[in-house]
Amino acid sequence: MILVKPLRFTTLCICWVLHIFILEANETVRNPPHVVFILADDYGWNDVGYHGSEIRTPNLDKLSSHGVRLENYYVQPLCTPSRNQLMTGRYQIRTGMQHQIIWPCQPYCVPLQEKLLPQLLREAGYATHMVGKWHLGMYKKDCLPTRRGFDSYFGYLTGSEDYFSHHRCTVIPLQNLTRCALDLRDGEEVATGYAGRYSTHLFTERVTSIISKHDPQKPLFLYVALQSVHAPLQVPERYVEPYSFIRDPERRKYAGMVSAMDEAVGNITQALRDNGLWDNTVLVFSTDNGGQTLAGGNNWPLRGRKWSLWEGGVRGVGFVASPLLAHPGTVSRELIHISDWLPTLVSLAGGSTNGTQPLDGFNVWNTISRGRSSPRLELLHNIDPLYDDIAPCPGRESRLTLAPELSQGQWSDSGFNVSVHAAIRYKNWKLLTGYPGCDYWFPPPQLSNGTETSKPASPLRSLMLFNVESDPEEKQELSEKHPEVVDFLLTRLQHYQKASIPIIFPNDDPRCDPGPSGAWGPWE
Ligand SMILES: *[C@@H]1O[C@H](CO)[C@@H](O)[C@H](O)[C@H]1NC(C)=O
Ligand SMILES: *[C@@H]1O[C@H](CO)[C@@H](O)[C@H](O)[C@H]1NC(C)=O
Ligand SMILES: *[C@@H]1O[C@H](CO)[C@@H](O)[C@H](O)[C@H]1NC(C)=O
Ligand SMILES: *[C@@H]1O[C@H](CO)[C@@H](O)[C@H](O)[C@H]1NC(C)=O
Ligand SMILES: *[C@@H]1O[C@H](CO)[C@@H](O)[C@H](O)[C@H]1NC(C)=O
Ligand SMILES: *[C@@H]1O[C@H](CO)[C@@H](O)[C@H](O)[C@H]1NC(C)=O
Repeated sequence: MILVKPLRFTTLCICWVLHIFILEANETVRNPPHVVFILADDYGWNDVGYHGSEIRTPNLDKLSSHGVRLENYYVQPLCTPSRNQLMTGRYQIRTGMQHQIIWPCQPYCVPLQEKLLPQLLREAGYATHMVGKWHLGMYKKDCLPTRRGFDSYFGYLTGSEDYFSHHRCTVIPLQNLTRCALDLRDGEEVATGYAGRYSTHLFTERVTSIISKHDPQKPLFLYVALQSVHAPLQVPERYVEPYSFIRDPERRKYAGMVSAMDEAVGNITQALRDNGLWDNTVLVFSTDNGGQTLAGGNNWPLRGRKWSLWEGGVRGVGFVASPLLAHPGTVSRELIHISDWLPTLVSLAGGSTNGTQPLDGFNVWNTISRGRSSPRLELLHNIDPLYDDIAPCPGRESRLTLAPELSQGQWSDSGFNVSVHAAIRYKNWKLLTGYPGCDYWFPPPQLSNGTETSKPASPLRSLMLFNVESDPEEKQELSEKHPEVVDFLLTRLQHYQKASIPIIFPNDDPRCDPGPSGAWGPWE
């Protein structure tokens, strides 16, 4: 890193750096880079120091300042969908997983014919390890991470459990009972004996242990899907102490959770350095979706939040840190999506995407590393005809009723039903149809008292167009000014809808019940 830094100062050094980079580039051909992918959970746009947050993230700030910050980077608005696209390189409409998340008792998982990122990297000669949250289905053993490309796995299969007890509570259908049971596995075995250990510490410890045992000559793929900073709001008190200045109690606790996560990232990178892996590592940090304002997260000044197609739901915190970057210390404003990691990382690994279904992702390594234009011009955020807002805006009972004269209106013969929840991006344009989810702007709690929201001045329409390049806050609705753009984007939505496979969203299966002393896991 130090060698690369003088790039900005002297020509002499430029030659030197280029020379080093060529050697490294050649090195990567013979010795593919280690890939460490750290996925944070529900981490909001306004929750990282370098976006101006009051929450302190010295490790993320420093790592990313020597890497490439991705400022036009998109994820899906929910946990399962983002993880699904990371693993498959494909949109939700391709896998039938365009609706919600996989709930603990639902009998489905990412379709087994999908070839996942760890399988491709394993074929390219990588050791593949996963620590943390799976959330891609587990009703039968074939769905487990260890059967889908990971050599080892330590973590939990569902979501939202207790950070200390590792228990998850769920209502068991037809049985009129709420079951709280352990959700923690080592490989395929239930992992007991970890009660009381905060998951951020537990997972970091496993990650650093994998790193310290790893032979640096063998390429490593390490997928770290942290529980941080999803609800419930839990963290050892020492992380909260520096935040006594935050008045909102949820935000204060959340800030402590972010600090613990930041420390985890620091420990993981330190372990990579201490064990001689760092010089040949590509580290990706990404959130899985926008922050949940109901649980301490914040996306200001972006509109909306988790579970919505507004920018606050889908524009993600993300960066790449690596000594292999050609232009470190830069900010990328090129369009990049979470589905792009699969082709990007497999290509870096010298592997092949042979055997995958047709991909929606692009190889964006030259965009990230060298600042080239993104090959991605378009991005389908989602199409979900069954969408329901399970967390309505404060003060609202449920989704808005859209003004009837606007619900189809002039677009009635477009071929796309504009009452359907959908969003698509093309270059600077973003079109939203149907109800996108809570449409408020949530000011940072330190600017308000945590309960204040900023409601839109005009009613929602069932079709809205924004120039998110110049108006990332989605304030100026432009559909009437640019009907030709609307027409074009509706054609694209119709194209994708025709290619969609039907939604898979089975009823809960009462056989999921692990019983009073069991653990969540495969029941079929
Ligand atoms: C890359 O390495 C090979 C041998 O492994 C060598 O022949 C070649 O010249 C190197 N290329 C560069 C650009 O350094
Ligand atoms: C469900 O359980 C609750 C509490 O145990 C009880 O009060 C209620 O009557 C039960 N309902 C049915 C339909 O069995
Ligand atoms: C990071 O490492 C330090 C020193 O070993 C340890 O005290 C701390 O708990 C670790 N933090 C996390 C989040 O694992
Ligand atoms: C792709 O995989 C198939 C089956 O594994 C194999 O027969 C074929 O040769 C591969 N093609 C390429 C281009 O690697
Ligand atoms: C359009 O979509 C809405 C919402 O999904 C649905 O209720 C309605 O039946 C659809 N209309 C037609 C004509 O398909
Ligand atoms: C918080 O702010 C809102 C809007 O300014 C105000 O109506 C409310 O009374 C405040 N609540 C507290 C507890 O200060």
